[in-house]
Amino acid sequence: MIDPHEPIFSVELPESLTLRSVSTYDELERVAAFNGLIHGPEVIGFTANLFAAHPDTRGRDLLYIKNENNEVIASGCLIPWKLHFGEVDLLAGELGIVGTREDYRGRGLNRHLMGAFWQRFADRGCLLSIIQGIPYFYRQYGYEYAHLPLEGGWRLQPDQIPAPITEGYTFRPAVPDDAMLLAALYEAQAGYQDISARRTAGIWRYLLSDLRKPDAMEHETLVVVSPQGDPAGYIRLPKYRFYENLIAVDECSELSFPAGLAVLNELARRALAQGQDGIRFNLPPTSGLLKLAQAYGAASLGGYSWQVRVPDMAALLTHLGPVFSARLAGSPFSGLNRKLSLDLYRQHIEMDFCGGALKSAVFVKHCQDPILRIPPEQAVPLVLGGRTLDEISASYPDASPQHLWKPLIQVLFPKTRAFLATIY
Ligand SMILES: CC(C)(COP(=O)(O)OP(=O)(O)OC[C@H]1O[C@@H](n2cnc3c(N)ncnc32)[C@H](O)[C@@H]1OP(=O)(O)O)[C@@H](O)C(=O)NCCC(=O)NCCS
Repeated sequence: MIDPHEPIFSVELPESLTLRSVSTYDELERVAAFNGLIHGPEVIGFTANLFAAHPDTRGRDLLYIKNENNEVIASGCLIPWKLHFGEVDLLAGELGIVGTREDYRGRGLNRHLMGAFWQRFADRGCLLSIIQGIPYFYRQYGYEYAHLPLEGGWRLQPDQIPAPITEGYTFRPAVPDDAMLLAALYEAQAGYQDISARRTAGIWRYLLSDLRKPDAMEHETLVVVSPQGDPAGYIRLPKYRFYENLIAVDECSELSFPAGLAVLNELARRALAQGQDGIRFNLPPTSGLLKLAQAYGAASLGGYSWQVRVPDMAALLTHLGPVFSARLAGSPFSGLNRKLSLDLYRQHIEMDFCGGALKSAVFVKHCQDPILRIPPEQAVPLVLGGRTLDEISASYPDASPQHLWKPLIQVLFPKTRAFLATIY
């Protein structure tokens, strides 16, 4: 939301260009129009909604560069997320809606925006940055594929779906008054994940409110109603999506078997009515609806991954202390009293465990007898649990444990179940 009292960020750049944050609705409209030009008309509404109505954004998160004629020529933003990771919550900053006008590309404008992005990231106290972005480009800024699932999924054809076993399930559009109900259903399914997105009541109201259209993140949210008239779950269907020939479901609460079958039948009906080739399930492996679809023959479409950068790995590890304590508690290393060195080649981190609790994780100059050597970017999928050390070592021979302590590394850094349902 735009807060007129928020301090404006403004820096003069060479060639009479100015990099600044958005402080008025007029500026927001101009940046939104620019984003529409670069990314497509549905991104105008997306930008405008995100910064006019989302409870967690501020104008200071939306950065742009203008020329001497006051034209917007580049922009990018930080979208604030709160992630739930095991025992803790942590703040993440998504780098989003990045673009430079074609005639200004290759002049370092995006690099300037990134500098301002990292300042905002630090001001907000974020510990990791996530991006959905284009392949390859963001490696230069230190992002790495974390192997946390993003898009892709599973495909099912309408004719693979058996008829419902219980008649009478209906579907109605969710309204803002459903926020509490959907929040509870969301929490129940997010509980199956080690890493998930936190959704406050404010975010739910944003997702369910009547926003400006078109919006690239527009979803149809449907409440599943049982034959007795009670809420039996919900599904969310994105309007704009990859695989345009398939209707998609990218969020679903846990459902009973009859309700799940009714949902599959409703999706099949919609696919046929809309002349679509099938249904795509972009859901976590823990989802009951996905398991049903797989049982009826859904085929994998593969998947993409979030790219993540962790600018301060010692700070992230410190924050994850309660997660490590919980992992140690159920293991042969319960009560661990030991300093553990991690050699990230260009950085060295010492984790100090006392009675099974992490006292601190700090950068140190020299690494004494490290239990693990790993390239710094590969520490990201390891710590977030997208990949195990064995999987990383298969592609990166310079990622290797000290033989004795490999079992401890397996306890501290297991594979996680992660799925980030969108917060906008
Ligand atoms: C991607 C994009 C934002 C880059 O903006 P830009 O202002 O031209 O980028 P910069 O000039 O600041 O370049 C930043 C760095 O990226 C490099 N770079 C630029 N285009 C690149 C490309 N297509 N692939 C790889 N690297 C590239 C530059 O060489 C520079 O690195 P250097 O400083 O080490 O030389 C711009 O090309 C764009 O708007 N593309 C279309 C929209 C888009 O794809 N947005 C990203 C969606 S997530």
